[in-house]
Amino acid sequence: MVIKWTADLSVKNDGLDKEHQRWIEILNDFYQGLMAGKSKEKLEELVIAMLDYTKYHFSSEEKYMAFINYPGLDEHKTIHASYVERITEFHDKIKNGKLIVSLEVTNFLKTWLINHIKGTDMQYANYKK
Ligand SMILES: [Fe+2]
Ligand SMILES: [Fe+2]
Repeated sequence: MVIKWTADLSVKNDGLDKEHQRWIEILNDFYQGLMAGKSKEKLEELVIAMLDYTKYHFSSEEKYMAFINYPGLDEHKTIHASYVERITEFHDKIKNGKLIVSLEVTNFLKTWLINHIKGTDMQYANYKK
């Protein structure tokens, strides 16, 4: 499925909201690539793009949380790190032909992102106000 960024996902910071929107776009590209029957190489490129963007976003979000003195920073960082680890493993498996990019995998990525924004990210958003 294609997902959309909606106002209920706002973390009350324009820059970070834009990054979440871009990340959702990348996941939608990923889904569309899968549906369009793109080659394994092309899908792998999309996985790399997603992984790079994930790291970029996590680092800017962590800087922001440090800037607002958010007390849950360490815990949030741990969650980010374990997700990066998971996606890195996922990429290695795809590269080695041990995992096929499927709808199940795509849905996992989307569900993780939405739940993370609504659950974990929302905590710093609410702390700020
Ligand atoms: Fe986060
Ligand atoms: Fe985030």
